[in-house]
Amino acid sequence: TAAQKGGYPHFMLKEIYEQPEALRNTITPRIVNELPDFTEDGIDDEVFKNLENITVVACGTAMHAGIVGKAMIEKELKIPVNVEIASEFRYKEPLINEKTLVIVTSQSGETIDTLEALRLAKRCGSKVLSIVNVKGSTIARESDYVLYTHAGPEIAVASTKAYSVQMAAMYLIGCRLGYVKGIYSEDRAKAFIRQLQGVIPVIEETLKQADEVKTVANYIKMAPDAFFIGRGLDYTLSLEGALKLKEISYVHAEAYAAGELKHGTIALITENVPVIALATQESVYGKMISNIREVKARGAYVILVSMDEEYNDKDVCDKHISIPKQDGLFTVFSAAVILQLIAYYTSDAKGLDVDKPRNLAKSVTVE
Ligand code: G6P
Repeated sequence: TAAQKGGYPHFMLKEIYEQPEALRNTITPRIVNELPDFTEDGIDDEVFKNLENITVVACGTAMHAGIVGKAMIEKELKIPVNVEIASEFRYKEPLINEKTLVIVTSQSGETIDTLEALRLAKRCGSKVLSIVNVKGSTIARESDYVLYTHAGPEIAVASTKAYSVQMAAMYLIGCRLGYVKGIYSEDRAKAFIRQLQGVIPVIEETLKQADEVKTVANYIKMAPDAFFIGRGLDYTLSLEGALKLKEISYVHAEAYAAGELKHGTIALITENVPVIALATQESVYGKMISNIREVKARGAYVILVSMDEEYNDKDVCDKHISIPKQDGLFTVFSAAVILQLIAYYTSDAKGLDVDKPRNLAKSVTVE
C-alpha cells in the first residue's frame, strides 16, 4: 500500500533511500573504541586467527557483494578469497577444509542452494560465518556464527539496501581480520573504520544526484543492450549494476572488465549503445579513460561515473555523474547507489512493474 511505501512511488526507491540508515544500523553497533568488534555478535577472534583462506558462497546479488569483498580483502590483506555460486559449489567437491572460513551471504537466509552449500561446507569441516538480513532464518540458525545485517525488511524483488549492508559486513570482517592477524596496525584499522563510517554521509550526498541520473534513464530505455565497464573494485561493482538493469528494466546488460573489452565485447559497441563506465580507481584511472575513448570512438553513448567534479572533455563521455571524493577502497558504496538509480529510473521510464519484475522471486526456495 501507499502508506507502506512511505510516500515513495515504489518500494525499490524507498529502499534505495533507506541505505544511509541501513548502513548506520549495520556498522555502528560493531564499532567499539573506534575498532570493528564482533563481541556482541558472539563471533570469536579465533575464527579469524586460524583461517588461511576464505570462500564466500551465495547467489545473485549476495554473491556479487562477495565479489566486492574478495577484491577488497585480497587487495588489503593478501588473504585468498574464493567466491562460489552456491548452485555450483554444492554439486562439486569443494576445495575447502578446516583452515577455510566459509562466509555464506543471504538476505533472506532461506535460499535453498545457499543453505545446501552451507551444509556441505560444514560437512567439509569448515567453520561457517553467515551474513544474513532476516533474523532467525534457516541459514542463520544453521551457521556457526552470524553477522546480521540490519537493513530492515526489503520488499522490492531487486535487492538494493541488502547489497550495501552485505558489502559493509564484508568490509567490517575484512578490517577485523586484518587487525586480528596483525596485518593492519591499530591506526590503520581505525582509519579504515572512519572511512567506512564516512560512506554514510557520502551516500546522502550521492542521493541528491537522483534527478541527474533520471535523465540518463530516458536514454537507456531505448536501448536493447547496455554495457557496464570498470577495473578493480569498479569492475566488481559493475556486475551488480548490470544485474540490476536486467532484472527490472529488461534491458540486456553485461558487465565487462574494461581491459577485456577488446577481446570480444567491443565488437558489439556500435552507434548509441549505452556504456556505463565506472572510473573511481586512481591506479587504473588513465587506463579506464583510454578504454572509454575506444568505445566512444565507435559511437557508444558513454555515461561516466567518477569522482571528478566536472568533465568537459566531450571525447570522453556524453553524460558525467560525479560521486563525492573519497578513498578508492570505499567508492563502491556511493557508485552502487548511482547504478541502482539508473536501473530504477529505466524500469520506471518503461512503465514496468519495478517492484515485481516478471519471472523473479524475492527468495528462491526451489532448486
Ligand atoms: C533471488 C533474489 C535476489 C537475491 C537472490 C539471493 O534471486 O531475487 O535479489 O540476490 O535470490 O537471495 P538471498 O536471499 O539468498 O540473498
